[in-house]
Amino acid sequence: MSSHSPALEIDGLYAEKLAACLAKAEGNGTADEADFCRRYPDYEHTRHLDALRAAQYQRLDALKHVYLDYTGGGLYASSQVEQHHRLLAADVYGNPHSFNPTSLAATHLVEKTRETIHEYFHADPDEYRIIFTANASGALKLVGESYPFENRGQYMLTFDNHNSVNGIREFARLHGANVNYVPITLPDLRMDAAALREMLAQAIPGGNNLFAYPAQSNFSGVQHDLTWVVEARERGWDVLLDCAAYLPTNRFDLRECKPDFATLSFYKMFGYPTGIGALIVRRDKLKKLRRPWFAGGTVEIVSTLAPVFVRAEDEAAFEDGTVNYLSIPAVEIGLRHLLECGMDAIHSRVVALTGYLLDNMTVLRHSNGSPLVQIYGPTTSEGRGGTIAFNLLDERGEMFDVRLVEALANQAHISLRTGCFCNPGAGENAFHLTRQNVEECSVAAAPVTYERYVAALSATTGHTVTGAIRVSVGIVSNYADVSYFVRFLRSFLDLESPGLLD
Ligand SMILES: Cc1ncc(COP(=O)(O)O)c(C=O)c1O
Repeated sequence: MSSHSPALEIDGLYAEKLAACLAKAEGNGTADEADFCRRYPDYEHTRHLDALRAAQYQRLDALKHVYLDYTGGGLYASSQVEQHHRLLAADVYGNPHSFNPTSLAATHLVEKTRETIHEYFHADPDEYRIIFTANASGALKLVGESYPFENRGQYMLTFDNHNSVNGIREFARLHGANVNYVPITLPDLRMDAAALREMLAQAIPGGNNLFAYPAQSNFSGVQHDLTWVVEARERGWDVLLDCAAYLPTNRFDLRECKPDFATLSFYKMFGYPTGIGALIVRRDKLKKLRRPWFAGGTVEIVSTLAPVFVRAEDEAAFEDGTVNYLSIPAVEIGLRHLLECGMDAIHSRVVALTGYLLDNMTVLRHSNGSPLVQIYGPTTSEGRGGTIAFNLLDERGEMFDVRLVEALANQAHISLRTGCFCNPGAGENAFHLTRQNVEECSVAAAPVTYERYVAALSATTGHTVTGAIRVSVGIVSNYADVSYFVRFLRSFLDLESPGLLD
């Protein structure tokens, strides 16, 4: 399921209202910010991030971008790119699969980066290994394709997983394993603790039981309790913790939380480089994985005369072909950048700005008193990250098509996201869809496209189902970004939804 952003013609009424609302705050911004700082005193301790934004992220303000898609992708400081380019320009790097000087130079940088990742997450190399992948999805696929589901296996996962975690169910099914979803409860979209406890008790004794959940939902921003990792392991489950949405704004310490598998994409943490993720895996569980093939770089020996091959040890058996050796050093630069910013400061800033957004979004009301914003997930900053999924409703409770909202946001230079964010389970729960709705509509919409599917769902359920809107804050988000966004939302007050767009 994916969303699309057509170049919509914006009706004059919307455009006029938008311009008026965006202009409105001019003049009283300073007093409002002072009030915000009083409500969120921790924000003052993160002021160095404003200086950082002015110095290293100038392009945001120079180009008048209001970036609210940090869960989609983090932003890089210009110094990260400059340092990386200086490094590349200063030496000659060859393919690290050899032992010549240029190859050894590349190997040195790759291994130095691996060490930095170990240090950053406090991952003892005797206990955890770091496998470089193309992204979090690549890390998840490595687990999915290699986990021994065929040997008395089962796969359990929460409903609010990213599709790259959902997709592992196809490997599980292929190998005859049962797949079960742990329910999440409305309205906060948190895990149903009682149901989970019951399901954890169903581990197959001596079998291969894999439980996957996100440390933070990329849909609702909910942070699931990390203590489930311990409980699930004690009950005989291997735990796959998808950390992709959690890591950009939260500390994560593998001395305290010890999943069997943790997955991530580095661009989500610090914007640059793209194309590199990691699977962090307990060494003993690495031995349990069975790769379905071998590739260059993953073997000690291979024969073509006999069906003989011997896999390389540890992470080398999982890094297919040549790793992205020129970009990997930029990961070390990115991690050092985060350390310099201070994860606690980033976290505090995100908590404050999320609190501001939630406080201000939930009070927006039409003249008849009905709410403008329907939030999916927690409405306070407690136990959640800086990702907010929501829809806008008119005074009759009719939803504004997210494509209209996105088109207007684009006009206002706001980068947000619409659709289901590759997390269909959270959306299906939030929209109260049933299995029957999905089965009928996926047939009715044949040949299925996103547009035909949401049109069928809207017709069946009697309300507009075009997905949700998502905003997310991160490393250099500031008060100006979030207050501008609230003004943008005000432009929808007292307007009538035109219903589902064609
Ligand atoms: C929670 C979560 N898991 C996994 C992924 C997949 O990440 P990638 O697209 O970088 O592979 C994402 C991406 O948005 C995510 O938010």
